[in-house]
Amino acid sequence: MNDGVKLGVLGGGQLARMLSQAGSNMNLDLYFLDSDPDCSVSNLTKNLKIGDVTKYQDVIKFGKNLDVLTIETENVNVEALKFLAKIGVKVYPEPSVIEIIQDKGLQKMFFKNNDIPTSLFEFIYNKADIESNELPAAFVLKVRKGGYDGKGVTIIKDRSTINDIYKPHIAEQIIDISKELAIIGARNANGEVAFFDPVEMVFNPQLNLLDYLVCPANLTTDQITILRTTTQKILETLNYVGVLAVEFFLTKDNRLLVNEISPRPHNSGHHTIEGAYTSQFEQTLRAVLNLPLGPTNTIADTITINLLGESTSENYMKTLSLKGVYLHLYNKIPSIGRKIGHITIINPNRNRLFENAKKVKEILAK
Ligand SMILES: Nc1ncnc2c1ncn2[C@@H]1O[C@H](COP(=O)(O)OP(=O)(O)O)[C@@H](O)[C@H]1O
Ligand SMILES: [Mg+2]
Repeated sequence: MNDGVKLGVLGGGQLARMLSQAGSNMNLDLYFLDSDPDCSVSNLTKNLKIGDVTKYQDVIKFGKNLDVLTIETENVNVEALKFLAKIGVKVYPEPSVIEIIQDKGLQKMFFKNNDIPTSLFEFIYNKADIESNELPAAFVLKVRKGGYDGKGVTIIKDRSTINDIYKPHIAEQIIDISKELAIIGARNANGEVAFFDPVEMVFNPQLNLLDYLVCPANLTTDQITILRTTTQKILETLNYVGVLAVEFFLTKDNRLLVNEISPRPHNSGHHTIEGAYTSQFEQTLRAVLNLPLGPTNTIADTITINLLGESTSENYMKTLSLKGVYLHLYNKIPSIGRKIGHITIINPNRNRLFENAKKVKEILAK
């Protein structure tokens, strides 16, 4: 049905790689743009074009002969996408939506204007704004654009320690978090929507780093309903097409607040490759090509562990001796802290799932 449809992806990182893997099953004609000829997707495709996704001319040159264009990173040149949409390229999510999401400040305004529960915040442009804002003494400072994986997020305990601010930031009230959750929704141009089961992202408090992700998150049916209806409201208000990840905080006093949204497949959805009837990557392709969305049911419980270059190839392979362990390496050169892959552990028995995850970690730590 999609014979000959040229689908482009801005970015060639691991999300592009996994989109390419999903696309290959459907024999889709996928094109990628990345400035690194050795990027993650490079050894899986003949259609990698070299160029900078943040540069207007590079994005125009890449996109002008494509039918459909999507993204694997929100840090892209939106002006170029607006131009491409004007000349008839189907850009999903729409450029104006990407423009909101790539800026944490505009995201927060969107939540506030649409009564979507989120933490209190203020815009910060300079040191004077830090001194005059009405937040409590301690707050979270976030750079508005370009942050990821906690880079660009700082907890400020004493505002007098801040020297100066050079980029626009937001200051947020510190939330007393009980659980960090994420839910992935999808919507196609026909308006069909679907949601994967929510995931809990478990952080290591010592290292302040994501430890593992577990799906389904242990939540009440009422909590799951709130996650779904909030995500549906965001999808519909934005007239969204594609896959959208919504991160939530469950507060210690049992409120569900939206932390942030991502306009693409998300780290909290990698388990869907083995753990759900449709993966988030196939769902992205279905959504942006306006195909029927796939079933999102969970096949069995999963734990996902990010690989941050902390172990050896030999150890990664050794984890495969455990039943229900799936290894994904992203074709990236390891360096400390760099996300080079993930492992998904699947097991219908929750206790055995956690036991196997523990064993995987022990192997990785050797
Ligand atoms: N308002 C907040 N209160 C407490 N912790 C927060 C708050 N905002 C963010 N954090 C912590 O910082 C992490 C990263 O923040 P986030 O806004 O999700 O940035 P990133 O884009 O890097 O994922 C969150 O997962 C959470 O652990
Ligand atoms: Mg986040």
